[in-house]
Amino acid sequence: MTELGTVVWPPAPIRTERLVLRESEAPDRAAFIELFALPEVRTYLGGPRPREELERAVPELPGRRPGLFVIDLDGTMIGTVSLDRRDADRPGHLRPDGGEAEIGYMLLPTAWGRGYAAEACAAALDWFAGAFPGEQVVLCTQTANDRSMRLAVKLGFTEVERFEEYGAEQWFGAWSSGQVRATGT
Ligand SMILES: CC(C)(COP(=O)(O)OP(=O)(O)OC[C@H]1O[C@@H](n2cnc3c(N)ncnc32)[C@H](O)[C@@H]1OP(=O)(O)O)[C@@H](O)C(=O)NCCC(=O)NCCS
Repeated sequence: MTELGTVVWPPAPIRTERLVLRESEAPDRAAFIELFALPEVRTYLGGPRPREELERAVPELPGRRPGLFVIDLDGTMIGTVSLDRRDADRPGHLRPDGGEAEIGYMLLPTAWGRGYAAEACAAALDWFAGAFPGEQVVLCTQTANDRSMRLAVKLGFTEVERFEEYGAEQWFGAWSSGQVRATGT
């Protein structure tokens, strides 16, 4: 994974109807550990990591990098949405040298099923479209990950290809700013 590139970071916190997208803070550490330790969150992301290992490895200020937003609901972290550069040596690309901006998202299960992921990702994509005008964003998710597949389509990603990676079928899609997004649920 490569960092996003030259961009003013962090931007001012981004407010949506119900959420704030912001840089991580020290009190978010416990939620970061949950995101990597909970089997429900890690089902399609390589499985959970042992909590003790995370307690040792996660820094005091986790997730501090350009492109990583904490999703904040009423002052508490409920997940992350990130934009990073896709490694050239992985399958799934729009251009031969790779390095496309790729969106990723993880929410705590207590925050699923309320449209928070869609609201946060749409705001992150809007921010990206302003910071990198005209650039496409890609998304890769296991086809078995129903929630993620529904979210991808809702955000306006369209299928580019499917392939096998990590022993599972992957859906690889692309998004351009100005593309019409589905509204509501
Ligand atoms: C993928 C993930 C972010 C999707 O979260 P989610 O909460 O299902 O996604 P959304 O924000 O789009 O919410 C959609 C649901 O909220 C419901 N909803 C309730 N109130 C809503 C509102 N006000 N606005 C919109 N949707 C609303 C929708 O009806 C929909 O329900 P459904 O899933 O039963 O159809 C979440 O499952 C997750 O974190 N998974 C683990 C990490 C992961 O696999 N990431 C993918 C990496 S590629």
